[in-house]
This record gives sequence, C-alpha cells and structure tokens, in this order.
Amino acid sequence: MCGIVGYIGDGSAKEIIISGLKSLEYRGYDSAGIALHRGGKLLLRKESGVIANLEKRITKKDFDGNLGIGHTRWATHGAPIRENAHPHMSCDGRIAIVHNGIIENYMELKAWLVKNHDVEFKSETDSEVIAQLICVYYKDDLVAAVRKAVARMRGAYAVGVISADDPDHIVAVRKDAPLIAGIGEGCNYLASDIPALLRYTRDIYLIENDETVIISKDDIKIFDGDMTRVKREKMHVTWDAAAAVKGGYEHFMKKEIYEQPEAVNKTLEGRINAKGEVKLDGIKLTKKELDAINRIYIVACGTAYHAGMQGKEVIEGFARIPTEVDLASEFRYRKPIVDSNTLFICISQSGETSDTIEAMREAKRKGARILSICNVVGSSVTRESDDVLYTWAGPEIAVASTKAYTTQLVCLFLLALYMGRARGTLLPKEYKRIVDELKKLPAKLTEALGTDEHVAKLAKKFSVREQIFYIGRGSDVGTSYEASLKLKEISYINSFAIAAGELKHGTIALINRGTLFIVFATQDYLYEKMLSNIEEIKARHAYVIAVAKKGNTRVGKISDDTIMIPECADEVASILAVVPMQLFAYHIAKLRKRDIDKPRNLAKSVTVE
Ligand code: AGP
Repeated sequence: MCGIVGYIGDGSAKEIIISGLKSLEYRGYDSAGIALHRGGKLLLRKESGVIANLEKRITKKDFDGNLGIGHTRWATHGAPIRENAHPHMSCDGRIAIVHNGIIENYMELKAWLVKNHDVEFKSETDSEVIAQLICVYYKDDLVAAVRKAVARMRGAYAVGVISADDPDHIVAVRKDAPLIAGIGEGCNYLASDIPALLRYTRDIYLIENDETVIISKDDIKIFDGDMTRVKREKMHVTWDAAAAVKGGYEHFMKKEIYEQPEAVNKTLEGRINAKGEVKLDGIKLTKKELDAINRIYIVACGTAYHAGMQGKEVIEGFARIPTEVDLASEFRYRKPIVDSNTLFICISQSGETSDTIEAMREAKRKGARILSICNVVGSSVTRESDDVLYTWAGPEIAVASTKAYTTQLVCLFLLALYMGRARGTLLPKEYKRIVDELKKLPAKLTEALGTDEHVAKLAKKFSVREQIFYIGRGSDVGTSYEASLKLKEISYINSFAIAAGELKHGTIALINRGTLFIVFATQDYLYEKMLSNIEEIKARHAYVIAVAKKGNTRVGKISDDTIMIPECADEVASILAVVPMQLFAYHIAKLRKRDIDKPRNLAKSVTVE
C-alpha cells in the first residue's frame, strides 16, 4: 500500500507533504517523491530508499510552492528504484500524478500510448501510464482529462493529479484504494489515509469509489461517477496519531487480520480473467517446461512453511506432480535430490529470510527452476528467482504473519490451478469449481472475521492455560501447525500441534482432565474420523473446541464448544479456518498483556542463520 499526500494553500507545500509522508512510514515503502507547482512549472524530486534520501536531494531553497503532491511507494510493478518512484510526469512535464493501487490493463494502455502517441516511458511501472494517458486527453480541462483517462483504466487506484497550467487545484479519483481529503484553514489536503494529516487537521472527507474530488485552497468539491456534485458529511477524527497509524486498531496484528479480505482480493486481482481462467503474470513456465518437471520442493520457514504444507495438498491434487515440503533450515544441509527437472518453490513474506535464501541457492546450484511466492518486490528471494508470484498483501508490520499466510495459500491455489490446467491433469469442471471458490474467498473471510466476539469469549476462558493442543487431518494438519505457532509466538503458551491420527502413538499420554484441544474438522471426507478423534480425547476428559463448517452440527454435540467457519469446499477450508485461530491467539496474548506486534526474541524477518 503506497502513501499519498497533497497540499494546496498559502504554506510550504514541501514541508507539509514531506511531514505527511513521514507519518505514513509505518506502511513500509522503498522510495519517495514530491512534485510542486511553481511559476507555471512542475518541480519534481524523487529518490529510492527512505524519505531522508529524498530530502537530501532537495537542496535548492527555491524548491517549494503552495501546491504539490507526494508519494511513498511500496513497489508492485517495477523494482524499487528512483525511476519507478512517484510522482510520475507526462512526457511534456505538464502533468504529475501519484497513484496507489494496481492498473490491471496497464500493458494494453502502454502499448496504445506508444503506438498512437509515440509516448516514451521512463519507468517500468503501471502508474506512469496514468500520467501519460491524462496528458493525451488534456486540452484545457484537467478534470475532463482525468475522467477520460480513468474511464479506460481497470484495477484499483487512488490517484492525485496536478498540472503546470493550473496553480489552483488538485484533482483526485479513487476506486478500491483508500483516499481522503483534509479540511484546513485557508488550505486543504489530500491523503491516502488519516495519519498523514493528523498534524494539520482532524476534519476530513472520506472519498468513495468512483468519485472525483477537486481541491482548491478554499474548497473541496466531490462528484460521483456521473460528475454530479455529492454532498458529503465531514468526519472528525478522534484517534491519536499512534492509533491512526494502525487504522484505529490497537495493534498492527489485529489490523492485518482484518485486512485479509482486502489482501486476498488484491492477490486475486487480475489473475482470474472474465472467462474464469487463471492468468499468472510473473510465471513464465511453458507447458513444455511444466511437463518436464518430475519433482517439486516447497521450501520455507515458520508460517511460510505451514503454507507450503497446504501447497503440497493442492499441487499434488491438481497438477499431480510429486511434491515435497521441507524446512529451509533442513533442506540446505540434506543433500537434496535436485536436478534440472526439479521445480523449487520458495515461500517468503519478507524475501530476506536467510535460511530460505540459502536453500534456494543450493537448489539453484543443482539446476532447479526457482519459483518464489513473496510479498516484497525487489527482495533478495525475488531477485534470484526465475519466476515470482507476488502475494500483494501490502506491508505486513506485525511479527506474527497473518495476511501474508492467507495470501500465500491463495497464490499456491492459483499456481496449482495453472499447472493442473496446463498439464491437463485437472478436469475442467473441477478447475471451475475451485476458481469459483477462490472468487468467494474475500466475502467468506469477512464472514469468518465474524467469529471474533465468540473467539474472544473463549480466549477469556483459556488465557491462563499453559498447554493447548491443536489437531486435525488432511489440510487441517497444516492449519493446526499454523494455529499453534500463532499462539506460541505472541502469547508464549507452549502450544502443540499434531496430526490427529498420530495422537494414539504416544502424545495421548499427555492428556489430563480438562486439557484443552482445538480440533479441526473441516474436511468432509475425514469428518467421521475426526468425530472419533474427539470421542477418543473426550473419553480422557479433555476439553474440546471444534472448528468446523457451518451446518456440520454433529461435531457440536460431542464437543464442549465450537467455532463455525463459513460453508466452503474442503480444499479452501484452511484459508478460512485459520482466521478464528489468529483471533484466538491475538485475544489470549492481549489478556496476557504481551507485546503483540513485537513478541520477545522474535524479528519480522530472520536474516540470520
Ligand atoms: C510467522 O508468524 C513468523 N513471523 C515466522 O515464522 C515467519 O513466518 C518466518 O520467519 C518466515 O519469514 P518469511 O516468510 O519472511 O520468510
């Protein structure tokens, strides 16, 4: 998620914009830039890295003005280098734009601009297309040009625009990316979110989808998709700066748990076309290369490894290629059997985990094709991969990974569908069934978040426990491992995950009266088996909280409590079942007064061995 700040008034646009961008640093970013209107011209400075690097480039005293737009970029299309930083300028230097979101049809628009208007692009980004498109349509009405350009764009966008010919206005539009206008005294503001403005104003207008906003120093006008003026109530923000940075949530982890519907939406965006076919932009694997692959390794650490456990299920299920999941810290010392017919899939949120990088290099040395599933554009893992499938989850700040995990799962589904279809090992009706299930995920994730209140009550009951077991079968084993890690790493409870069928081979000796078991029973084909497992532990007086799909009522009759997830296909249940478990861990850690976003001894990215 990129940061946007705009200003128009009698003050120093440079000072106010830079300060606003600094308030958005929590979003994570890898470059920043600013464009100012001065003397009928647009001045532009941008730089990779932190905002301080940008400030160092602004040496001239006269680099200032009363109108400007600024941006912090979280790279999606194009590496995090200066040329790809925003603002982007039109070829004639008369239009500058900042953009948050993804323009899905940017390649088509880029080709049209090159072919029909000889546009010379300076960046690899999708965003630059917006500036060039507005320039093509601009005669003497900036709003009309912006609306014409937007009419051709598909995807998600919050865009701020200024023109050298118009010293009195910022024009902005939004669709599926946050945008607000701030109300000042003798000045006004634009921003991607509230923290950027709190130092200057607490009175804002929320801009809704398909709206256009025209900001002058004395006025903010909002128009709907038909350019009919909209009367919008202003909102007074009561949050403090710290809370605002977390979007009003108490912790980044809670915010990121609740961002999962939007994050999965972004992961899916542009990857399932109108015909319901999976199209993966970053995967260059041809059918011939796919057919030659006779072994797949999925290698990762921690939560990413648990995603890999689910990945094995779907890749073997859909693509029918033998798939092994391995811990990166083990793989690299195991003398693995790897050759040019091996596909090595590494999963990493940060793309900087040392064990994963070294395992990837080992596989590369032995001739494997490297495909990474990662959340950070331009990270080490992505730079050394042959193919990259980005999760597009947006920056994940909390150490405990949540939205990265669910978007990793979705990427593995997309990859498995793509491979199954290309290899002809997945029946068309099965392919369609799973694609339809993926499309319903954002709404079902929102529904799964509805378990929050019930889960909080359960957390209250068990927050003092020092031992909690998680068990399941099939894809519920991976969910058990992930649920247990979430609890372990933020509450410091010694939780334990095990395949339910393994219990009787030793672990069942640990059961005391009242021992808490979280039992996953989301797989219809294993439902009866799980009911037997519940009976088995209930016979030893354990306390059972069952996690099952709505409608599976029998499990509730033999359990002490249940958490019901939305009806769904077995295959995608793991993506939904993990949500109440993330919340369970969160509420217990909060009751135990833990440092939830930064748990003891842990780092967000383990860049050491
Ligand atoms: C998960 O909640 C932890 N933060 C940790 O297990 C993490 O998943 C692991 O270190 C891998 O990190 P990566 O995805 O950035 O490679």
